[in-house]
Amino acid sequence: MDAVTLLEQKRGEARLGGGQARIDRQHANGKLTARERIEVLLDPGSFEEYDMFVTHRCVDFGMDKDHIPSDGVVTGHGTIDGRTVFVFSQDFTVFGGSLSETHAAKICKVMEQARKVGAPLIGLNDSGGARIQEGVASLGGYADVFQQNVLSSGVIPQISMIMGPCAGGAVYSPSITDFTFMVEDSSYMFVTGPDVVKTVTHETVTAEELGGASAHTAKSGVAHRSFENDIVALKQLRRFMSYLPSSNREKAPEVDQGDPSDRDIAALDRMVPLDPSVPYDMKAIISKIVDAGDFFELAPKYAANIITGFARMGGQSVGIVANQPLVLAGCLDISASIKAARFIRFCDAFSIPVVTLVDVPGFLPGVSQEHNGIITHGGKLLYAYAEATVPKVTVITRKAYGGAYDVMASKHLRGDANYAWPTAEIAVMGAKGAVEIIFRKDLGDPDKIAAHTKAYEDKFANPFVAAQRGYLDDVIMPHGTRRRVIKALDMLKSKKLENPWRKHGNIPL
Ligand code: HXC
Repeated sequence: MDAVTLLEQKRGEARLGGGQARIDRQHANGKLTARERIEVLLDPGSFEEYDMFVTHRCVDFGMDKDHIPSDGVVTGHGTIDGRTVFVFSQDFTVFGGSLSETHAAKICKVMEQARKVGAPLIGLNDSGGARIQEGVASLGGYADVFQQNVLSSGVIPQISMIMGPCAGGAVYSPSITDFTFMVEDSSYMFVTGPDVVKTVTHETVTAEELGGASAHTAKSGVAHRSFENDIVALKQLRRFMSYLPSSNREKAPEVDQGDPSDRDIAALDRMVPLDPSVPYDMKAIISKIVDAGDFFELAPKYAANIITGFARMGGQSVGIVANQPLVLAGCLDISASIKAARFIRFCDAFSIPVVTLVDVPGFLPGVSQEHNGIITHGGKLLYAYAEATVPKVTVITRKAYGGAYDVMASKHLRGDANYAWPTAEIAVMGAKGAVEIIFRKDLGDPDKIAAHTKAYEDKFANPFVAAQRGYLDDVIMPHGTRRRVIKALDMLKSKKLENPWRKHGNIPL
C-alpha cells in the first residue's frame, strides 16, 4: 500500500470512531457524533485536528487488542466567526467517551496551546467517566485536566457543553470552567449517580431528576443554560462566543447591530409603577436599552431575583446585572449573590464592562438565609463589585435600600457612572420599617405614624439626597437611559485602574 493510501485509510478508520453501529446508536439517541458536533460549532472547513492517530497504551483486560485511533476524543482548533477557538469533543462511540491517560493528554495539549495563543477553550463533554480498564492512570489524567483548567482560569474563556453523561469526578472540570451549558433530555451531571444515592441515603431518584438539565439550570445553578438539542445548543454557543474576548489580553469584538446609540425610549418613562410595592419586569427594561434588544441571559431559571447576561451597548459587549422586582421583590439572597458575583468576576477577568440596574429592597431576611450563610455569600457579591476594575455603570430605577444599595455597584465601590431615575429611593430601609423603629413610642397612634412615614418618604423616597452628596453623578430621565449609559461606556473605554499587588485576594468562598 502506498503512503498516501495508507494515510487515507488511517484517517478513515479514525473518522469512523467506534464504528457504524455505535454511530447509529448515538444518532438513535438524538445525539450527533463528536466530529459532527465540531462541524456545527465551527466555521465550515476551519477545523484543524490534532492527534488523530493517538491510541491508548493500556494492556490490561484485553485492551491490548482493542485500539481505536483518536482514543475517544477529537481535539484541535478552528474558528467561530473568524476567531480562533480550541475544542475537545468526546466521542461516546469509542469506549463510551471514557477518559484514558492518552485521552487526557490530548485534552491537556489543546488546553496548553489555547492558553499560549490566547484563544478560548470549548469542551464538548459526552463521556462514561474514567476509563475503567486503566484505573489510576485515568484518575491522574483527570487531575491533569483539572490543573490545566485552573491555570487557564481568568486567562482564556473556558466553556463546557454537556452533551451526554458527565459523572463522578469528571464534573469538576466543567465546574471550574466559566460557563456550563447542557442539552435537555440527553445530558446529566452528578458526583454520584442514582444507584449510589439509593444505597447511601435511600433516596429514589432518576438520573434526569438528579442531574438533568432542569435540575442544574433551576435547582443547583451548576449549569447556566440548557438547549433542546445538539444543533440548537451548538448554534447558541456560537452566538454566545461573540460576546467574549479571546483572552484576558484582548477586548471583546465590537459588533454594530445597527441600533442608534442616541435612541430615546419613551416607554421607559412609564415603566416604574407609582406604587413602590407594585413589581415590574426588569427584563423589559434590559431589552429596551441594549443594542437591537439582543440579550443572552445566563441562569434565567436559577436565582431569578437577579438577572445576569451579555448584551451590547453601542456595539460594545457588556455584562448586565439587574435586580428583578418580579421575583422576591428583587431581594438579594444567597443564590442571587453567588450567581451575580461569579458573573461579575468573569466580566472583570475579561475586560467586559458591567452595567448594573438596581431595584433592590435589601438582603432577604430569614432564619434559613442567616443559617445558610448569607453573611459570607452576600460578601461574595460585595467583594466582586469592589475588586472589579472594569468600567462600572449603574442605574438605580427605584429602590436602593440598606447594604444592598452599597453592594450594587454604588459610587462607594468605585462605580464610574452612577445614575438614578427620578423614581429612585435611596435609604437605609423602606419608610414603614424605618418609622416603626425610630418612632416606636408612637406605634399606638396611627396619625402620628402616618405623619412620620410621610416625613421619612419626603426625605428619602427620592434620589436627591444621594445626588447632593455626589453619590450619584446625575438624575436622568428614563427615556435617555440608553444614550447616557452608552456615552459613559464610550468615555470609559480608556479607563485605567489597578488594584494593589498581591498573590491573590481572599474572596469569602
Ligand atoms: C470504559 C466504558 C465506560 C468507562 C462506558 N464504557 N463507560 N468503557 N470505561 N467508564 C463503554 C461500555 O463498555 C460500552 O462499550 C460503551 O462504552 C457504551 O456504554 P453503554 O453502557 O453501552 O452505554 P449506555 O447504556 O448509554 O450507558 C452509558 C453509561 C454507562 C451510563 C455512561 O456506560 C456507565 O454507567 N458507564 C460507567 C460509568 C462509570 O462508572 N464511570 C466511572 C465513574 S468514576 P461497548 O463496547 O459495549 O460499546 C469516575 C471517576 C473520575 O469517572 C474521577 C476523576 C477525579
